Amino acid sequence: MSSSSLKGYKNKLKLLEKYNKFYYQNQKPIVSDKQFDKLKTEILELEKKHGFSDTKSPSVKIGYKPSKKFQKFKHKVKMLSLSNAFNQEDLINFQKKNINFLALDKNYEFEYSAEPKIDGISASLNYKKGKLIRGLSRGDGEEGEDITENLKTIRDIPLNVSHPDFPEEIDIRGEVFIETNDFKKIEKDFANPRNAASGSLRQKDPKKTKLIPLKFIAYTFGFTSEMKSKKQSDFIKDLDKWNFKTSELNKTIKGVDNLVKYHFDIEKKRFNLKYDIDGIVYKVNDFNLQKRLGFMATAPRWAVAHKFSANYSVTKIIDIDIQVGRTGALTPVAKVKPVNIGGVMVSNATLHNEDEIIRKDIRIGDTVKIERAGDVIPHVISVDQKLRSPDSKKYIFPDKCPSCGSKTIKEYNSITKKVDAVRRCSNDGFGCEKISIEKLKHFVSKDALNIEGLGKKVIEKFWDLKFIKLPNDIFNLNFEIISKLEGWGYQSAQNLKNSINKSKKLKLDKFIYSLGIRHIGQENAKLISEFLGNYSNFVKLKEQKNIEDLSNIDGIGETQITSLKNFFKNNLNLQVISSLSKVLIIEKNNIKKKGGVFSNKTLMFTGKLDNISRAEAKSIVENNGGKIVSNVSKKLDYLITGEKPTLRKVKMANDLKVKILNQIDFEKISKLRQ
Ligand code: IVH
Repeated sequence: MSSSSLKGYKNKLKLLEKYNKFYYQNQKPIVSDKQFDKLKTEILELEKKHGFSDTKSPSVKIGYKPSKKFQKFKHKVKMLSLSNAFNQEDLINFQKKNINFLALDKNYEFEYSAEPKIDGISASLNYKKGKLIRGLSRGDGEEGEDITENLKTIRDIPLNVSHPDFPEEIDIRGEVFIETNDFKKIEKDFANPRNAASGSLRQKDPKKTKLIPLKFIAYTFGFTSEMKSKKQSDFIKDLDKWNFKTSELNKTIKGVDNLVKYHFDIEKKRFNLKYDIDGIVYKVNDFNLQKRLGFMATAPRWAVAHKFSANYSVTKIIDIDIQVGRTGALTPVAKVKPVNIGGVMVSNATLHNEDEIIRKDIRIGDTVKIERAGDVIPHVISVDQKLRSPDSKKYIFPDKCPSCGSKTIKEYNSITKKVDAVRRCSNDGFGCEKISIEKLKHFVSKDALNIEGLGKKVIEKFWDLKFIKLPNDIFNLNFEIISKLEGWGYQSAQNLKNSINKSKKLKLDKFIYSLGIRHIGQENAKLISEFLGNYSNFVKLKEQKNIEDLSNIDGIGETQITSLKNFFKNNLNLQVISSLSKVLIIEKNNIKKKGGVFSNKTLMFTGKLDNISRAEAKSIVENNGGKIVSNVSKKLDYLITGEKPTLRKVKMANDLKVKILNQIDFEKISKLRQ
């Protein structure tokens, strides 16, 4: 590969950028479509021939930059995502979990509403008295951008609904997308239809949105002042009646076998459909059961997205790199000759771990098959042994951390009684450079402090410049120096300063999550923060004995307790927490008190409950403002007894004068029965 061809490639990219600018920003093309296409083809050919790649390449993305200047509004009801399933086994588990949660007969057959998972951009449309008032993008799920004017340009979205059954106020939710045929007309400008829809929706000027033929399909609701329908399938009929478009592929189905059959049938005709879909969503059809099943941290228990199998391609491994992750995991990554998989240029593919390399006997120089499914990181599926060069060598996994040189170890998992497949750096947290950088990225990420403008690349740059080493350094940045860096200016430095200041106020669960403690994800951080109540109780965990109390939380087990103990044993971690507590305003989590009959009360269950699982009982208590504990003490408010209660607990409760209720009393108080 000569440097002159690289130079030529870069020049062509520059030229393409110029053409794009005139076309999109100035709306005055300076070359014909034919000339434009010729340049694009030349760039793609150079990439193919020499393995060049560039973020500005048309194979990665082109089109125009979306605006950042939309006003943000809170969704009245959060916009959650969906858990994924990839095969029949995942679906069986999904169903089993729900049967257990609802304490149903093990052969119970749910009725599901099966709906195509449209690969677009979700939007929430707020109607009051039949009039479209505001349309929001999903945003981070809690807060979306006001894209009303752009949404109004979509003909599938009714501006007024005059049906007598239409609720006084309702958020109609669905997907904005572009049909495959329409996409063909603007194919040269975007990597895929989803990007096109997204770029178009986030234009500041609705006239530009109108240039791209967007469609809308409705499938659910957020807030609503009333709900007459008892099933999701009936609600879909309501949507039709109210003049919203719904998918012609929606269907009610019973039994996992039939779900799999439906999935298979749709997958076969997937590429003949009018729009891109990347799986099927199954929702428990009965709204009453949906309500009982409720939500986990980021997704409902009552729905799952069954993804289609991925796209794949064949390419060559140029090198193997080791990436050190936030928790010290050493992940081997294959650097491959760039290849286009389903509209996205792929130049890295994960090899997962050491065992995987050995099992598949993957070597540098090998020709491999790579798979990419939706937003999941591409991975190597198999090696074509026939094409292997005779002098290829086996890859030796490093026994030292490539970042800090510490010994690498494979842990023994006392629960699974197996040695972990993942090799880890034995250095604790901030002691290893790569781990620190990953921890910083996690700290500022969307679900943690959510500092806009402090993306992964900026963190790396600030690290190299020695601006930041520990999370608290983020709050001591010198914006004057930053404003003088290449690519920065007064305004961008000021914007960063503002978003850092904005991030200082946060809820305890976000704070706990942001620390990146191993095994403490969003869900566990929430459970712990609700249990502890405030920051000062959290910091008390450094007195190791308090950590054991957390095992009272349903969902926190030995693994999490050990991890927390290790975290609080590390002095540098304690230092980080203490410095952060001086700059941050860490607020209590508002525990939702729906109805609040158990508000501020603690409850404990003993014995088997009839027709209701412990998990559901816990969720009922929590939805009524109460908290479950697992020890009888004089602080306990109610001991609820089921069948065959532990007599020792009942006696203790009696001695301590704790109120004892049976299941019938409990259900009456919770208004589950009259
Ligand atoms: S229901 C609480 N139904 O998938 C569940 N979502 O990963 C709310 N999507 O953000 C979603 N088709 O953009 C639902 N028929 C469908 C869908 C669908 C596509 C998207 C939606 C959502 C994402 C979840």
